[in-house]
This record gives sequence, structure tokens and C-alpha cells, in this order.
Amino acid sequence: MKFLAISGSLRAASHNSALLRAMARLAPAGASVEMCRGLGDLPLFNPDIEASDPAPVAALRAQIISADALLIASPEYAHGITGVMKNALDWMVGCEAFVLKPIALLNASPRAVHAQASLREIVTMMSAQIVEPASITVPILGSGLSEEQIAVHPEISAALRAALEALCAAVTTGRAARL
Ligand SMILES: Cc1cc2nc3c(=O)[nH]c(=O)nc-3n(C[C@H](O)[C@H](O)[C@H](O)COP(=O)(O)O)c2cc1C
Repeated sequence: MKFLAISGSLRAASHNSALLRAMARLAPAGASVEMCRGLGDLPLFNPDIEASDPAPVAALRAQIISADALLIASPEYAHGITGVMKNALDWMVGCEAFVLKPIALLNASPRAVHAQASLREIVTMMSAQIVEPASITVPILGSGLSEEQIAVHPEISAALRAALEALCAAVTTGRAARL
């Protein structure tokens, strides 16, 4: 089972990216989490250039389509998701890469309620399948925890493992339903 992790932050020291990388360390047997790295290379979305299918867009689409499920985490900027994340999502609307895709929406900050609500609304509009038990808020922001420390923190790692198991279960259920 292959999961793609998409962070809405381009910062090297991003809490959201650290959270997703920690989840990659915690992936259960038979599942792997790959970090999506191309969001900063995407051009700004413009319907006029959509037909030319810029290479970074094609690469992102291929990564999403080949993943069994997505893990998404975005910082909150000015009560919304980051421009980086919104730009990536806008590129994926027309190609329908998100349709019926199981998605875990991770929130690294209990304060970031607006971004999380917005993310939920956008991916729902894109017909993705939000996996509720895998969509959790964990208090990473302000904790000072590194990726390594998140992965061994007793309560947080247990919650992240449970989220990953829930995502695996949703993928398995979806596969069975399509047989
Ligand atoms: C331009 C800007 C706007 C922000 N707006 C909010 C906000 O509205 N609400 C909030 O909770 N945090 C806000 N923050 C704080 C970020 O969400 C926080 O720094 C977060 O750690 C960034 O995520 P990252 O560590 O993954 O890069 C803002 C930060 C920046 C740089």
C-alpha cells in the first residue's frame, strides 16, 4: 500500500512536514509513505496554461494517481490554507486526480481550525473520500518536537499509528468494494 504525503509548507523546518515524515517512520508493515516534493515547482495555476500540462503538474498528478491514499497537512496562513497548498489543489481539480481518493487530513496545530475546515471543504468539493478516523489534530506546533521525537512520543505516535491503520483499512475496504 502506497501513501503520498503532501505538506502545504515549503519551510525546511516545517512542523507539518516533520509530522508527515514522522508518519512515514510509523507506517505499518505493508504500507509506505512517500513525501511529495514538487509543490514549490508548480507554476501558479492559470487555466490558460492548463492544456499545456506543465511538467511539474504532470509529475504531481502521476504521484497522486499512483498513490492508494494521501496524507495532507497544511499550516494555517491568515485563517486559510497556504497559497502553496491551494495552488496544488487548484491544479488537481480539472484532472480529477482526487476523485474517490482516500485522504487523511492531518492538523499539526489545534489552533488552526480555519485552515482545516477550508481543506476539508476543498477536498470534499473535489470528491475525495476523507477518512475521518485518520484525520486527526496533534499538538506539534510550539511543542519543539523534531520528526524523530514525534515518532517516539508515546501519545502522539500512538495516535499517528492509529490514523495510519485507519487509512490502511479504508483503502482495503475501497478495494474490496470495487471487486
Ligand atoms: C503569513 C502567516 C500567516 C499565519 N496565519 C496564521 C493564522 O491565521 N492562524 C494560525 O493559527 N497560525 C498562523 N500562522 C502561523 C503558522 O500557521 C505556523 O507558523 C505554522 O507552524 C507554519 O507551519 P510550518 O511549521 O509547517 O511551516 C501564520 C504564519 C504565517 C507565516
